[in-house]
Amino acid sequence: MCGITGYIGPKKASEIILASLKRVEYRGYDSAGIAVSNSKIEIMKDAGKIADIEKKLDFSKLEGNMGIGHTRWATHGTVNTQNAHPHTDCTGKIVLVHNGIIENFAELKEELEEKGHKFSSETDTEMMAHLLEEEERKQPDFMRAFLAAVKRVEGSYSFVAMRQGDGRIYAARKSCPLVMGVGKGEMFFASDIPAVLPYTRDFVFLEEGEAASISASDYALYEVKGGKEKEKRKPTHVDWTPQMAQKEGHAHFMIKEIFEQQSTIRQSLAADVGEGVKLLKKAKFITTVACGTSYYAGLLFKEMLRQAGRRSDCVLGSEYLSGIYERDTIVVAVSQSGETADTLNAVRYAKEHGASVLGITNVVGSSLSREADACIYIGAGPEIAVVATKSFTSQLVVLYKLALTLAKKKDMVERMKDLSAIAEIVLSKNEEIRALAEKLAAKKDFFFIGRGLSFPVALEGALKLKEITYLHAEAYAAGELKHGPLSLLESGIPIIAIAPSDASTPKLVSNIKECKARNASVFAVSDSDAVLREAELKFVMPQVDAVFAPIIYVIPLQLLAYHMAVKLGKDPDKPRNLAKSVTVE
Ligand code: G6P
Repeated sequence: MCGITGYIGPKKASEIILASLKRVEYRGYDSAGIAVSNSKIEIMKDAGKIADIEKKLDFSKLEGNMGIGHTRWATHGTVNTQNAHPHTDCTGKIVLVHNGIIENFAELKEELEEKGHKFSSETDTEMMAHLLEEEERKQPDFMRAFLAAVKRVEGSYSFVAMRQGDGRIYAARKSCPLVMGVGKGEMFFASDIPAVLPYTRDFVFLEEGEAASISASDYALYEVKGGKEKEKRKPTHVDWTPQMAQKEGHAHFMIKEIFEQQSTIRQSLAADVGEGVKLLKKAKFITTVACGTSYYAGLLFKEMLRQAGRRSDCVLGSEYLSGIYERDTIVVAVSQSGETADTLNAVRYAKEHGASVLGITNVVGSSLSREADACIYIGAGPEIAVVATKSFTSQLVVLYKLALTLAKKKDMVERMKDLSAIAEIVLSKNEEIRALAEKLAAKKDFFFIGRGLSFPVALEGALKLKEITYLHAEAYAAGELKHGPLSLLESGIPIIAIAPSDASTPKLVSNIKECKARNASVFAVSDSDAVLREAELKFVMPQVDAVFAPIIYVIPLQLLAYHMAVKLGKDPDKPRNLAKSVTVE
């Protein structure tokens, strides 16, 4: 969470940083700020989204060729101007932005207060600015002071700092993403690649426990622990284009990304799963770990593996406390960003206990891609909206391909080639979904139901709806309704039934009848006449192989959530309290 950028080069830093911050605002958007270093350090910051802050503050007044910026997702201290980053030390000569949580912040703050440091915010970040001031008193070489201060910090962080009168920008990372963009005569730091894509496509990915400093034309890497300078690494060239991270005429990134699925589903099918197959072949047991939407993709992978006769389970990253319970378990970690702290912790735990890890991610150079023993990229391109849409279907395509290749079902992998055309048919009925969304937007509670492979789809549909409309939505395995949730049903409550024709259809029809008997109003997403006949509202789905239905049936649910959010006046790209990549536990 929190977006960070830093720039040094010949251009006006505040302009580049402002534009870059807008591109990483999905990481956090409760406040924002920029600092530039010219003859002195100047800072502008405020609470709110960047577009609103810009109406009050004129960032273009910040003159200078080097600077740092931040968009915040609050962890320590409420959302207000004082707590917004950048933060400074007592002298105002050292300035810093931070992403993550400093766990020993209280002790360090107390120590610094005893030494006379005065704090003006409630954040853990400000403590670091004072700690830098303290270390600098001991050793005037700022890189040394920076390393010494970072070394004292426990917790997760990416820091980017400047000192007045110094021609370099300093950074360090642990458990939070940070990339260094290498341009021609200019250099960047950013928490995510899209932030600086218009300026460079060459990146050095900072490693765990690594620090760096940049000038306009050069960079140096250091190991925080021993303080030693490291050898330079050759930058990695990424093939994402700046256009991929633009809205391209769509009202929101979310709808753009939903529509992109007609091509991303096809693209992802080209993913090379060879390394993954090699690794999984050896496994006696396969545990998938993931969070949020990726977890629902993991639930489907688990089912696919079980259908292929493999022993497998799927665990939430945050619940993976003692996951390795037999030898030769392979852990498959699924994460769009590759930076989710709960998933990465599970990965580290698994590795410490001797398990090999296969990473499935969308982001080249992400922590997961570097920490896993092998990695498959889903190839969905940058996903900017906070909620996952195209990355979910791309994860499914790759996970299905992996499970089917493992089961030697080449013909089924071949059949997946039809999926992007089927997705296109669903997307062509966008207006129909919009009309249905308008009808449903007045309701307050929603129940999504599905059986078998449709249950994770119901979970994802409910998650999408609650994330961006703030309405109450729950998902149940349809057979479970009678074991409790039926007591919640009242007249007119919408039941959204995810019902591709399959062996469970007759049972699902009975479940729908049970709901109707309690006067609930059923909205069926189905290709089955038996189901559609029972529904008050319906969205008729094209025919798709039952096994592949999750990849297609989630699309109308994404559209439904999107149109309802828009109808209710909510911003679907930046839902309140959420962030795209959650780098805290
Ligand atoms: C956050 C996002 C979700 C996402 C989850 C896992 O909560 O808001 O959309 O599904 O993190 O993210 P990952 O990057 O690990 O897939």
